Amino acid sequence: MKFFIDTANLEEIKEAQSLGILDGVTTNPSLMAKEGISGEKDILNHYVNICNLVKGDVSAEVISVDFEGIVEEGEKLASLHSQIVVKVPMIEEGVKALRYFSDKGIKTNCTLIFSAGQALLAAKAGATYVSPFIGRLDDVSTDGLNLISEIRDIYDNYAYETEILAASIRHTMHIINCAKIGADVMTGPISAIKGLLKHPLTDIGLAKFLADHKKNN
Ligand code: E4P
Repeated sequence: MKFFIDTANLEEIKEAQSLGILDGVTTNPSLMAKEGISGEKDILNHYVNICNLVKGDVSAEVISVDFEGIVEEGEKLASLHSQIVVKVPMIEEGVKALRYFSDKGIKTNCTLIFSAGQALLAAKAGATYVSPFIGRLDDVSTDGLNLISEIRDIYDNYAYETEILAASIRHTMHIINCAKIGADVMTGPISAIKGLLKHPLTDIGLAKFLADHKKNN
């Protein structure tokens, strides 16, 4: 399973990168705004800075919602750096743009996926990644993990190459359950990634090993 971090915060990206387990980064307009990044020049520079910190794919989201605008923005983003993946919303114009980018060899991440039907369309249109938002489904009393299972079954039935990028991850159990189901990628906050480290028996065991070592040294 690939691990992406879902943030536009450079310090958090560096922290995850230092663990040696980071495969990429996802951002979205809300995450960019949270970091106070605004204006086209600063936004584009920020994407380049993120690409220079990590080795893997970096999703950069378009703001346009019409085909021509999505294509123009996406091509500009893709030309910034070879690691950029153009993030396109799951709307009719977005599906057309996914096909356009796919035919041109530009990587895409189809975002705001909330149903198996949307994921099927994105795969048909040649998306590199599809992003089901499991946390936001859980927020409205709908089983987000079930959506991951449905998409896994559908993609396996037809050997679609689109990778399932489990998004809107909120905690460690989301990551573990997505891994059990076979999501190809997960993107989550640093807190969920580092949460995987924790077990009280590890802490107790280590304290005992160190204490026993100290007795004889
Ligand atoms: C995915 O690409 C999105 O940026 C993200 O996972 C959304 O997560 P949220 O529901 O916590 O905002």
